[in-house]
Amino acid sequence: MKLHIRNQADELIRELANYIQSVAQEAIASHGQFNFVLSGGSSPRRLYELLSSADYKDKIDWKNTYFFFGDERFVPENDEERNSLMAKKALFDPLKIPDSHIFKVDTTGSPEEAAKNYFATLSKHFKQNPIQFDLILLGLGDDAHTASLFPSTSVLEEKEATIRSVYLKDKDVYRITMTAPLINQAKHLAFLVFGKDKAEAVAHVLEGTVGSEHHFPARLIRPQTAENQWFMDAEASSLLKNR
Ligand code: 6PG
Repeated sequence: MKLHIRNQADELIRELANYIQSVAQEAIASHGQFNFVLSGGSSPRRLYELLSSADYKDKIDWKNTYFFFGDERFVPENDEERNSLMAKKALFDPLKIPDSHIFKVDTTGSPEEAAKNYFATLSKHFKQNPIQFDLILLGLGDDAHTASLFPSTSVLEEKEATIRSVYLKDKDVYRITMTAPLINQAKHLAFLVFGKDKAEAVAHVLEGTVGSEHHFPARLIRPQTAENQWFMDAEASSLLKNR
């Protein structure tokens, strides 16, 4: 695991953008594609805006980049809660990414169908080979969830590298999420975490000795080959002993 800690959020997202640029270059050189999984929530918005800005838009070979989502809220495509809508506004539209390079979750059927169909879409893209993304971006909730792997949900037990629907009782909403085994087979993984309200969750996940993965699901992210990269500001990392 590698920690990247910066005082200023802008410095942090620039360091992550440079990391993304290097992973993209390596991926396209080795197999002609950069299969890039985006995280949702609010943290990555400024990163996406930086990637589509004049500073980066010509530094990455976007025409060989394919976009996926680590999780999605089970709401209509044009709903403000959609992770794909935030990415569309901050990244896809400014870069004029063609729809053929964007793999969104289809939420027109049931949650189970959305999960099944998304997995089928991924399998087709990877030509039925193991689904191994070049980079998966992840966020962290203040309850130590990542993607839509929330505390005390049955999806945490999932041993298959697949896509599952999960019902969040307290929010009365469904989510569609990559399972931990699917995330763990990625070539590269990067968490992006800002702010003091995440500090406890960060400490529990990275240095915690109490509780289990059921309480702190991001502990499940133990990649097979990738090195976990954590991009954090000073506040989010403030409770870490070793930083
Ligand atoms: C989502 C995300 C989720 C997110 C964390 C952090 O769909 O919400 O994928 O895992 O990364 O909840 O969200 P913030 O960046 O908004 O704090």
